[in-house]
This record gives sequence, C-alpha cells and structure tokens, in this order.
Amino acid sequence: MNLSNSIGIFDSGFGGLTVFKSIAKRLPNYNYIYLGDNARSPYGDHSFETVYQYTLECVEWLFKKGCPLVILACNTASAKALRNIQQLDLQKKYPNHRVLGVIRPTAEVIGTFTKTNAVGVLGTRGTVKSESYLIEINKFFPAVEVYQQSCPMWVPLIENGEHDQPGADYFVKKYADELLNQSADIDTILLACTHYPLLIPKISKYISPKIQLIPQGDIVANSLTDYLLRHPEIESKLDKQRKQLFYTTGDTQTFDAQASIFLGKKILSEKLKS
Ligand code: DGL
Repeated sequence: MNLSNSIGIFDSGFGGLTVFKSIAKRLPNYNYIYLGDNARSPYGDHSFETVYQYTLECVEWLFKKGCPLVILACNTASAKALRNIQQLDLQKKYPNHRVLGVIRPTAEVIGTFTKTNAVGVLGTRGTVKSESYLIEINKFFPAVEVYQQSCPMWVPLIENGEHDQPGADYFVKKYADELLNQSADIDTILLACTHYPLLIPKISKYISPKIQLIPQGDIVANSLTDYLLRHPEIESKLDKQRKQLFYTTGDTQTFDAQASIFLGKKILSEKLKS
C-alpha cells in the first residue's frame, strides 16, 4: 500500500512507537508512516557520522514515500543528526520538507515539572555525550541543574523483549542509583530515550514515589500540534485519511510481535525496500 502526504515518524527501532502512540492519539486524522531502523539499532554507541548517515538515509526514504514532514522520534538521532540534516540537507536538497526532533520540545517544558530545580536525564551514551539536554535546558531554564546518566544496557534489553523480565532489574536499579547518587535534590527524571517508557514499571520500583518520571510522548505530541497550527503551509500539505503504515529495516515478524504488544493492536509491518 502507498500513502501520500503523511507524517513520517523515525526511530532507530521500536522506541519511537512511544512517541508515535501519543502523536496518533492527539492527532488521529493524519496519515502516518513509521520507520524503525531495527537492523542497525541501537544507535546509542555509534559515532556522530554513522548516526547522521543512517538517519539521513531513513529520512530520505520517508521523503520518497511522500512524507513532507518527518519527526525524529529518537533522542540519539535528534542529538547527533538533526542539526546537520536541517542545516545542510534540507537547505540544499529539500527546501520544502521539514524534519523536527524531540530534544528542543522537551527542553522547552521540562523545567516546569521540577520544584527543586534539579532534573535527572536518562539517555543513551550518544545523547548524554552530546550534552544536548544540558545546553537546551539551560537556554529555557537557567536555574535548573541537570544531572545526566547514560543507560547503555536498556535499549538492547528492550529491543530483545527482555524489559519486563527479572534479568532487567539489575541494570534498571544500577543506572537509577547512579543517577540519584549524583544529587539528593532530583525530583524529576526525564526519560530522554524514546525506548525507556517500556521500563517505567521497573524504574518506579527503584526510585522514591516522590520523584516524577517524565516520558516524552505527550510533550512531543503537544509540540507537534502547536507546530502544525503555526505552520499552515506544512499542515495543508498533509492528507487526513487516518491511515498508518509501519516499516522496519529488520525482521517484520519480530517487529510485528513487539509493536503489537506495545501499541495494543495488531501491526503488520513491511520490510523497507530502497
Ligand atoms: N529511542 C532512541 C533514543 O531515543 C534509542 C537510541 C538507540 O538506538 O540507542 O535515543
């Protein structure tokens, strides 16, 4: 099946489905094409150049599929590839297309959740090393102290369907402790990786109930709603047939099984063909 004029949602794997779920709930009328680069996931430890190259390939594929607007529902790709794509590729080759990330919309609001002005950020090594959240949150909330912790084992656990198994507890506790040991003031923890909401039941076991865990899905959905209102020139290009297609670079059966559990409905994905 082909869909024209859709909103493209990209992630390195399944994680972007947490963002897709919130966006599709908030903006159900549009057409959506989701692409997970499961064959090359996780992105978290890849170099800047590799994440840029992989992300650009996937974004260009979504453009060819007829998406005038693509959301990078992946913090690692937003941290390492978005700026280059916006400043180099869109300007030169695709002036009528738009690509948006998840870091800025999150940074714009995260300071409103904390009362102690101490926010913990959990992300991949790539996101943490990029310091994108330190820089962006500081622009909007200079009084907020940001404490970061990378959680390199979490995406592999989720991509392999182990996130709700007993073995995952060790690594969930380890990284939660490492973050909270940095400051006793942290009252808000941002899940700065779109995979991590799948671990919320386990993370909640190892942190104080007074600490808020903030996933990004609703934040990004609100921001996209606002963007479409402010940009009628983009919004008017989008078809509204309420259709959704799912593509993966990996194995479709694995994708369907995971995505169906995740979205609570049957998903039949297609393998990406260039
Ligand atoms: N969901 C991606 C993110 O938000 C995971 C990155 C990865 O593949 O390591 O960062």
